[in-house]
Amino acid sequence: MSAVFNFTFVPWFRSVAPYIHKFRNQTFVVGVCGEAIAAGKLAHIAQDLALIQSMGVKIVLVHGFRPQVNEQLQAKGHAAKYSHGLRITDEVALDSAQEAAGQLRYEIEAAFSQGLPNTPMAGSTVRVISGNFLTARPVGVLDGVDFQHSGMVRKVDVGGISRTLDFGAMVLLSPFGFSPTGEAFNLTMEEVATSVAIALQADKLIFLTEIPGIRVKPLDPEGEDNPIATELPLAAAEQLLSHLPSPQHPTDTAFYLQHCVQACKAGVERSHIIPFATDGSLMLEIYVHDGIGTMVVDEKLESLREATGDDVGGILQLIEPFENDGTLVKRGRTEIERDANLYTVVEHDGVIFACAALYPYPEAKTGEMAALTVSPQSQGQGDGEKILKRIEQRARANGLQSIFVLTTRAMHWFIKRGFVLVDPDWLPEARKRKYNWDRKSQVLVKKLG
Ligand SMILES: CC(C)(COP(=O)(O)OP(=O)(O)OC[C@H]1O[C@@H](n2cnc3c(N)ncnc32)[C@H](O)[C@@H]1OP(=O)(O)O)[C@@H](O)C(=O)NCCC(=O)NCCS
Repeated sequence: MSAVFNFTFVPWFRSVAPYIHKFRNQTFVVGVCGEAIAAGKLAHIAQDLALIQSMGVKIVLVHGFRPQVNEQLQAKGHAAKYSHGLRITDEVALDSAQEAAGQLRYEIEAAFSQGLPNTPMAGSTVRVISGNFLTARPVGVLDGVDFQHSGMVRKVDVGGISRTLDFGAMVLLSPFGFSPTGEAFNLTMEEVATSVAIALQADKLIFLTEIPGIRVKPLDPEGEDNPIATELPLAAAEQLLSHLPSPQHPTDTAFYLQHCVQACKAGVERSHIIPFATDGSLMLEIYVHDGIGTMVVDEKLESLREATGDDVGGILQLIEPFENDGTLVKRGRTEIERDANLYTVVEHDGVIFACAALYPYPEAKTGEMAALTVSPQSQGQGDGEKILKRIEQRARANGLQSIFVLTTRAMHWFIKRGFVLVDPDWLPEARKRKYNWDRKSQVLVKKLG
């Protein structure tokens, strides 16, 4: 074994441990679009889901089948028909959907049944259980278009799904539901996954999609200066949706986002859009701090917000003890009053519990996160991390490519969150002139990917 291996593998494995502990016994609803399966990604997705399940996560897997149904339709010489972004399911399309769903279920069950030695599935025992867990109702006639056998979820059998999950099985759902008269309705994977996540009050809803996530500037083309937004607060996501045209195709920005927002508003705290094209994207999103796609998160926005002039007193009260013991550099009231709009705060019931400021240096495309403070009675509950994420968002929105901090006491906190130590010479000229060499602060930088 290489001597370096121990020094990379062990810290790496330990860094994942908090996530493993946190997610044990949580419920994730994972919607996999049919395109992922058509692209030959099923084996790896199954391996990753089997591993995630083995770490105690309860998984409901919902598969899509858009390309598979279209393929069946084509074989029958029938064109796929859509309206309002939804399939019109006539008799032939219903037949095709049933055939495609049957075939996919077998393929998925087969993928979870593998267990060859020396593969990630060796020793895994995933029991996959499907069933009639969904009651559906017809979409009906919209603007004069009869959707025939296309349906919507009417009810989710929460008790049935929960008992199956408690029994240790993975629940597999096809986008089909039945009416009380026994009629089958073709549903969409996205609606099924969202309805099930809401009904179960799942901890996460994850869409494995053909898009990589939502970009920081959603309507601009991809590029280095337009990366994926790793976290989108619910309010920002809602605002974005209100400006986007109604989605017609799965690659439209609003297509998955609308479901994430719906789930978040109905109590599913975290919804994710991640790309199937990246191998292992599920693991990267769930077990790595910044993830790979976009997470829409309901972080109770009334408590995390940009500061105003009215917050100056609260900010001063919070940071003063840390200024006095030398953890933070002294800032006077006048300076904070002048810069109040650069601060982000966490407020509960009118009291400021955490804050940080972002001082941009646009000429160097970077910004300083300063005065990061969490009140001693609420440290260790993730507020520091919440503020950091918000500062990162503000920096991205300002077109900055990195943020930096100067710290004497909290270096490791930052390193754990993706910062790297650099020489003070790295600082933008304007900041270097103000650097206090006697204080010997360490300079840490985080690139905003
Ligand atoms: C550093 C600070 C902002 C972290 O805020 P927080 O809300 O407690 O942080 P989180 O809840 O997101 O993270 C808590 C984790 O950070 C660790 N941590 C807290 N302070 C730390 C420090 N100074 N150095 C290294 N790790 C630290 C905790 O032990 C905990 O680790 P765990 O998850 O392994 O249990 C907060 O401790 C603070 O305000 N400290 C005083 C002011 C300060 O030092 N600010 C930085 C100046 S640049």
